[in-house]
Amino acid sequence: MLIQSRDSGFIHPDSSDITPRGVYEGRRDMLKWLATGVAGAAMASWASREALAQVVAPGKLPPLHGAKSAVPGAQTMEKLSDYKDATSYNNYYEFGTDKGDPVKNAGTLKTRPWTVEVEGLVNKPGKFGIEDLIKLSAQEERIYRLRCVEGWSMVIPWVGYSLAELIKRVEPQGSAKYVEFVTLADPKTMPYVGSRILDWPYTEGLRMDEAMHPLTLLTFGMYGEVLPNQNGAPVRIVVPWKYGFKSGKSIVKIRFVEKEPGTAWNKAAANEYGFYSNVNPNVDHPRWSQATERRIGDGAGLFAKRTKTLLFNGYEAQVGQLYAGMDLKKYY
Ligand code: MTE
Repeated sequence: MLIQSRDSGFIHPDSSDITPRGVYEGRRDMLKWLATGVAGAAMASWASREALAQVVAPGKLPPLHGAKSAVPGAQTMEKLSDYKDATSYNNYYEFGTDKGDPVKNAGTLKTRPWTVEVEGLVNKPGKFGIEDLIKLSAQEERIYRLRCVEGWSMVIPWVGYSLAELIKRVEPQGSAKYVEFVTLADPKTMPYVGSRILDWPYTEGLRMDEAMHPLTLLTFGMYGEVLPNQNGAPVRIVVPWKYGFKSGKSIVKIRFVEKEPGTAWNKAAANEYGFYSNVNPNVDHPRWSQATERRIGDGAGLFAKRTKTLLFNGYEAQVGQLYAGMDLKKYY
């Protein structure tokens, strides 16, 4: 696997109020400058950040502000991944299979108008225009580790609100046990839809309690901006304790069902990708170990640093209870 390395050297400050990309990038320069001077890291806090916000031009995408989330597990002191890495090293197979393909090809994705249809076992099914969906609940910034099944990870500040907010409004019926996510499959704008890599559209699913968990984020933005196309604009799911492929991009349908739905990678290779796909260092992929991971930006090739992968991607305290008593080797 080819890994691009662009180490940011940027320590994310303790607060995570949402800021435009230019500010994030500017802060990195500020921190470098501070490191050379008399000021300690502590100075790279509110005052200097506020000053930076005044002078650094915002990113080219429209801002999407979110208040710092108070949901347990939604903040971290870890170093943020570079915006550039997070937006140019992607998996979005509708736009190509190389990590660099989505950023090159996803410009064709048309994100307006956009409708998300909610259907199935709910009392209030309906179609949500994207602007209404964005306004449905207050936007929050959540800093999540994203661990890909391939063995790399990033730390990304997402903007959105808990999927539970939407679920509560549509009133699921008692028989609704799972939520299925259907993503866009438009052969006109997505060059790889129609290829035989996957069974299109790319679909994903969660058990109802997983979908209702406050960490499950209906996501509209990242780094204080609306989502770039290659990251799943205009709306995606982010489920931080599961491998990245559970986080479907560019969602057009959310369906409430009784039976466990089929999912894109499970259909493609059931022995390699299970329905649950919780990050688990003790359950290896049949072709490689899942015990360690490499943070994108922390060196590549021979110089790649690897760190231990944590059970449930480090969110065990928050989500472990969902799987109490389950054999995680069987339900991988
Ligand atoms: N969603 C769709 N529709 N198509 C995809 O190919 N790839 C998944 C997931 N969502 C994918 C998708 C995989 S494998 C990963 S690791 C994450 O998106 C990557 O998200 P990122 O590019 O924002 O890091």
